[in-house]
Amino acid sequence: MLLSDSPLQQSARDHLLLHFSRNGSPAPLLVLERGEGPYVFDTEGNRYLDGLSSLFCAQIGYSYGEELASVAAAQLQQLAFSTVWTNAAHPAAIALAERLAEVMPGDLNHAFFTSGGSESVESAWKIVRQYHVANGEPQRTKAIARDRAYHGVTLGALSFTGVPGYKEQFGPPAIPVTHVSNTNPFRGPAEGEDEASFCRRLLAEIEGVIEAEGADTIGMIIMEPVQNAGGCLVPPDGYWKGLREIADRHGILLVSDEVICGFGRLGEWLGVERFGVTPDLATTAKGLTSAYAPMGAVMVSDRVAEPLYDDPKRMLMHGITFAGHPVASAIALRNIEIFEREGVLENVRELEPYMGELLEGIKSRVPMVGDVRGAGFFWALELVRDAAESRFSAEEREKLLRGFLSGRLLEEGLIARPDDRGDAVLHLAPPLVATREELEEMAAKTEAVLADASERFFEG
Ligand SMILES: Cc1ncc(COP(=O)(O)O)c(C=O)c1O
Repeated sequence: MLLSDSPLQQSARDHLLLHFSRNGSPAPLLVLERGEGPYVFDTEGNRYLDGLSSLFCAQIGYSYGEELASVAAAQLQQLAFSTVWTNAAHPAAIALAERLAEVMPGDLNHAFFTSGGSESVESAWKIVRQYHVANGEPQRTKAIARDRAYHGVTLGALSFTGVPGYKEQFGPPAIPVTHVSNTNPFRGPAEGEDEASFCRRLLAEIEGVIEAEGADTIGMIIMEPVQNAGGCLVPPDGYWKGLREIADRHGILLVSDEVICGFGRLGEWLGVERFGVTPDLATTAKGLTSAYAPMGAVMVSDRVAEPLYDDPKRMLMHGITFAGHPVASAIALRNIEIFEREGVLENVRELEPYMGELLEGIKSRVPMVGDVRGAGFFWALELVRDAAESRFSAEEREKLLRGFLSGRLLEEGLIARPDDRGDAVLHLAPPLVATREELEEMAAKTEAVLADASERFFEG
């Protein structure tokens, strides 16, 4: 049972501003202090199956602390810190950049390191801008992203984010971005519209925006392979190939935001590989180190990097002091080694169908589950209010998601994410090392919670 009045909880209330939290809420605060495999433990000793991988980060789970601590210790003793800045670098960042170039698809051969996902997205935009300026197209100042998509919160990245509530208090966006429809396969297609027509319509909408804005004013299209916000919005077949074709035809750069989907979440190094496309840039973070250290990277193709090399006087006008930190770089390098040694990508590929089956099973038994969607170890269950699959109102979502599900999940010993940036969904994204048995445990706990929720909130 989660307590709400420990000294740590009180101290947190007094001094720790929580991100994306209602800091004044009296709700009990989950204080986690230990991890093991796919499990985490709170300060009261309660065990939780981490069905969210600490916000899509803990790809290899929590049992590699000793190995990665020795990597970090060795690096700290040899060279605790140095930058990747003004003609200086260090072996850890160089080795990591080389290894990333090897595992990434196509010609994504150049790594620009960052400290996290928002910085990766902002950095991608600046690299895109420098590319266009160097190519004599400085007027390419606009971008295209998708409705409800989350691309980060720093003021540049926030421009790409398509969740209105996250933006409206912070003034006009730094970058002019048009948000096009997302690919929600449950709510998106019109009555009788098949997948191929849905895909054509979505791509035509993008063409329409490009035409309306002026093709030579658009610098980049940024999208996640499978969009998180809205609940694992898997694109229709052919969508990413369509994006690639449109971008190429109009001289626009295509950026895959892989902050969640990269590093195995969809069973590949980059999620977009599943769709047979190589982007011009890929933004990554989270899984790059499995969050054993904070780090991100923008992977840049040969073509986009070329102007940064071909003129000895041209400077990359962007830099972040901690980016490429030696300790984080050493940990990321070993994380990649662990992925290969432990067959992490293979585990996801092998168990993806089983995870889908387990969740479809829940849908068949719990009336409130209207849709199951996802890929790899990245899934969402959309919750509906009645047999006609109606949406919950904002007030109902508040009661269901915050008033009931968040507490009931913890009571069941499961961390999962109730989310209503689009419709009401429950996200499940376990560590990529989870076994069949652990997926079964996650599904059983999910079902128990949703069956309870159905009894209270489903009208039927
Ligand atoms: C797709 C995507 N892009 C960017 C970000 C921002 O990453 P960070 O929170 O590390 O700044 C996130 C964070 O969840 C994300 O999901």
